[in-house]
Amino acid sequence: MSNVAERIEELRTQIERFRNAYYLENETLISDAEYDALEIELRQLEAEHPEFAQESPTQKVGGAASEVFSPVRHREQMLSLDNAFSEEEFLAWTQKVEGGPFLCEPKIDGLAVSLTYENGVLTKAATRGDGEVGEDVTANVLTIKAIPHRLSGNSHPEVIEIRGEVFYGIEDFAELNASIVTAGGKPFANPRNSASGSLRQKDPSVTASRPLRMLVHGFALWQGQIASQSEVYSQLKAWGLPTTERFDVVESPAQAFEYIKNLNHTRHEIEHEIDGVVIKVDSLARQAELGKTSRAPRWAIAYKFPPEQVNTKLLDIRVSIGRTGRATPFAVLAPVLVAGSEVEFATLHNQEQVKSKGVLIGDTIVLRKAGDVIPEILGPVIALRDGSEREFEMPSHCPECGTPLAPAAEGDVDLRCSNARSCPAQLRERIAYIGSRSALDIEALGYVSATALTQPLPPLEPALASEADLFDLTLEKLLPIKTLVLDADTGLPKHDANGDPKVVDFFAKKDGSAAEVAHKLLANLEEAKRKPLWRILVSLSIRHVGPVAARALCDHFGSLKAIFAASLEELSAVEGVGQTLAQSIQDWHAEPWHQEILTKWAAAGVQLETPGHAGPGSVLKTGIFAGFSIVITGTMTSMTREEAEAKVIEQGGKAASSVSKKTNFVVAGPGAGSKLAKAEELGVEVIDEATFLVRLTQSTK
Ligand code: IVH
Repeated sequence: MSNVAERIEELRTQIERFRNAYYLENETLISDAEYDALEIELRQLEAEHPEFAQESPTQKVGGAASEVFSPVRHREQMLSLDNAFSEEEFLAWTQKVEGGPFLCEPKIDGLAVSLTYENGVLTKAATRGDGEVGEDVTANVLTIKAIPHRLSGNSHPEVIEIRGEVFYGIEDFAELNASIVTAGGKPFANPRNSASGSLRQKDPSVTASRPLRMLVHGFALWQGQIASQSEVYSQLKAWGLPTTERFDVVESPAQAFEYIKNLNHTRHEIEHEIDGVVIKVDSLARQAELGKTSRAPRWAIAYKFPPEQVNTKLLDIRVSIGRTGRATPFAVLAPVLVAGSEVEFATLHNQEQVKSKGVLIGDTIVLRKAGDVIPEILGPVIALRDGSEREFEMPSHCPECGTPLAPAAEGDVDLRCSNARSCPAQLRERIAYIGSRSALDIEALGYVSATALTQPLPPLEPALASEADLFDLTLEKLLPIKTLVLDADTGLPKHDANGDPKVVDFFAKKDGSAAEVAHKLLANLEEAKRKPLWRILVSLSIRHVGPVAARALCDHFGSLKAIFAASLEELSAVEGVGQTLAQSIQDWHAEPWHQEILTKWAAAGVQLETPGHAGPGSVLKTGIFAGFSIVITGTMTSMTREEAEAKVIEQGGKAASSVSKKTNFVVAGPGAGSKLAKAEELGVEVIDEATFLVRLTQSTK
């Protein structure tokens, strides 16, 4: 056999295997993007070598038939869609169909289902199967609330098949998984799997307990007096079927591409997962002219967004030590492109999570990164194990200073390095945090500078043995500082011919003069001495004291001296400050080396009070939200939720975490769930981000 024939055979076998795993076992052995790449390669080879074109998965839809459900022959074939992955591919399609108007709508990442209505009554529901024969899921579908058992009105034909997508809402999915995990079960990898798993249950009462939803997007077997896809939706809606509100009819390919770009941008505001946009020629007459291939209509195309879920290898699990000493396992991954950016690391939070995710070093894992959200490992692909994988063992000692790792309090899951003062990792993280935007926002004090300032490189002592000396840095102290040269691929230190680690000057140029960054750091530190007091307080890395609590404390007390002199009662009387936080402040101050930080910073000229503040409690609550209790929920677009809460506090309000009758109003962004529902139930006013911004601007007038 020629190489081409062998490759074609290999691709066909792989594709059949992945499809059957996906459709029958609900198991994703390969990411969508990798799968698409295989299918594209196979299609191309078949096009170039028609002599091998015979029985091929490229001519079919879906997977083999299952044995759990009875087979249902679709009266009209259930098709799939061809894909476009780039603007060029999309525009090429618009030329083939000779233009619009186009109907654009979200491509729902769910499960294709066909509903048969006879004389207006739902008589059969089936999955797509291989497009010709699907599975009979009627009993299960009857439990889905959104699906009418009887069509409204009396204009419906004798027999009609309605096609659509059954799916799980993102919040519902999170709730379902949380309850599965609580019950000790294995969570679903994504909402699509939970939809498929919930619908394809032997026992319909299980399906009934799951909040499945459906949106319909077409029908078969009927030629009504209807001219366009958009009118189809009006008709389906009139019959009481759930249709999308998000479709748009546009004239030109450029406008359709604009729709695609906009939806990609706002995809996370939608309550269910989407994996692209479906673009359809709107005119039904034109659709009929264009016809179909053996597997997909020519009048529609799916524009696929960059994947948010991919498979990659888990190369190693290492442990990092944070600024409060917490030991966090993190995954080292074979670099992979997901949601448009390359990911190499992912946090695993703690050793319990490594266990509960069930991942082994060497596993192929499913990685998810939704938009700007931090990448998360969902779990292993068990079917791809080959026996060489090994279990992760949490180290017993701090990897940087050798101190035994232990929980801070009995029953804590997190393990900590207790060497807060001298552990190089903790100091480095604290110094980098001081430079971060949440704290003193010092441009020249990023992670790399913080590393150079704190790294022990024997025989050289690190420039900073404690943050106490940060504001005493001078050019003389900076110039001798060296830093390790790291290998770009492994991230590990490079060595010279003698086996010694390679080092280079960090703050000095080759001629020994100070580099730009050295001058900048000193100038930045000088400015930082007079930053708002809450930023100084945040810089101390006191557990639980973030920007919101720090602002509230500083507004109330006016100086660090007053904060540290306050009793537990006085501290926790401040809005947003609880017992744990109050205790944490007192514990921090009880450490002599912490007091030394304050003394040295004061001596270096750092301003440890708010000028003009007349002492505890003297700030009058005169802001626009004075006396208000406000809850922020969901995602904000112009600021983070924490920033929005800080604004509430700045304006004299309370940023509460739960909704009650006392709540004055709730600011709800996309993704808001139970808090929004509670507000609606209690009749509390709900406003969106734009209205919140208007109220804030009113406050500055
Ligand atoms: S129209 C003749 N519209 O995606 C097929 N399909 O990957 C016309 N899908 O088989 C399908 N959202 O199950 C259409 N808004 C939408 C869709 C959609 C999801 C599914 C559908 C299709 C699959 C192809």
